[in-house]
Amino acid sequence: MSNVYVKTKHRSYYIHIEERDWKPFIIYLKESLKSNRLLIVCDDNVHKLYYQSIDIMLSEAKFDHDVVVVPHGEATKSIKWAEKLYTKAIDNRLDRQSTIVALGGGVVGDLSGFIAATYMRGIGFVQVPTTLLAQIDSSVGGKVAINHLMAKNIVGSFYQPSMVYINISTLETLSEREFLSGLAELIKYGFIWDYEFLNWMDDNIDKILARDIEALKNAIAKACKIKAHIVSIDETEQGIRAILNFGHTIGHAIEAATNYKIYTHGEAIAIGMIYETKLAYNLGLINRQYLDNMIFLFKRCSLPTDLKDVDTSLLMDKMSLDKKNKGGDIVFVLPVDAGEVEIFSNIDKDILEKTLAKGCE
Ligand SMILES: NC(=O)c1ccc[n+]([C@@H]2O[C@H](COP(=O)([O-])OP(=O)(O)OC[C@H]3O[C@@H](n4cnc5c(N)ncnc54)[C@H](O)[C@@H]3O)[C@@H](O)[C@H]2O)c1
Ligand SMILES: [Zn+2]
Repeated sequence: MSNVYVKTKHRSYYIHIEERDWKPFIIYLKESLKSNRLLIVCDDNVHKLYYQSIDIMLSEAKFDHDVVVVPHGEATKSIKWAEKLYTKAIDNRLDRQSTIVALGGGVVGDLSGFIAATYMRGIGFVQVPTTLLAQIDSSVGGKVAINHLMAKNIVGSFYQPSMVYINISTLETLSEREFLSGLAELIKYGFIWDYEFLNWMDDNIDKILARDIEALKNAIAKACKIKAHIVSIDETEQGIRAILNFGHTIGHAIEAATNYKIYTHGEAIAIGMIYETKLAYNLGLINRQYLDNMIFLFKRCSLPTDLKDVDTSLLMDKMSLDKKNKGGDIVFVLPVDAGEVEIFSNIDKDILEKTLAKGCE
């Protein structure tokens, strides 16, 4: 077991990282709650895999709990499903002392967190992330949101949970594609903050790919610590938190240009990181070795590295709509040194277009 402390202006809490055991979850849950009334939210896949044993333990511990099962997939992060969850919360007579528990990936975490943040202007919230992406990224830092048909994550809030419980063994049932998508975001922490961590990942990549629990525990704890640190300095993304968006300016544009159908989020971010690094190289910010090392590592992880079949002008168009843009300029987080990135908003349009179309020579 290792613990990561997250300290923000509004709430401070622990991320508990446990290898296999669910029992500590029940103990920490008891400690962190104001009342024993809970509503657990999970998707159909996670429900089938994990709910039964958790349900038994909650009953034994005399929690007054119910569960809502939502369909898996991004479409569930919707106003329609939010409304169904509010109804379920009212049916269960949840009050301000009650807690919503998100058991699942980022979709369930974001949706449940949004309900917890808004139902009665805010009730208790606990995250139990079960995908690699959720364990190292979406469950940490308090961003909660639902989508609008016209824009992803456009309705949301910053709402910290009172506890996060990571059971690493849940990753054993995750599909290879979802696991690798999370891995892209895990590697990202090395590039934006800690090159030592990247070297460690490089040395331990075979263990990580084999989902060795000990190696995953180290990597997940490290990633959570880095994100917790960044969030504690800048909870609402007024400044430094934006560096977490490395790879995301181009990555989000790839997702939008392909209607969210071809790539998972992590795959799009992997390509985004490579092309933003190519952009940094074309701008003279980093050397060729840096870029080549990155491509080599991504290939070893079977992550996509090429921007194929996506029209450059469509990507430019999608990037012009990015939430991070300032005064009409597209904002980029670009590598400038080992484990170091900076935020840029005045990138030469010709160099950007050339990078998207041709990469770098
Ligand atoms: N709040 C944030 O800071 C933040 C950060 C990054 C991403 N996100 C959001 O996270 C979402 C993506 O999250 P995700 O990648 O976890 O996707 P997801 O929640 O859709 O889960 C991916 C798939 O894995 C299945 N699954 C989950 N846990 C499993 C397990 N242990 N074993 C087997 N299958 C399992 C799910 O049913 C689903 O089909 C997006 O909506 C994105 O916007 C939020
Ligand atoms: Zn991301």
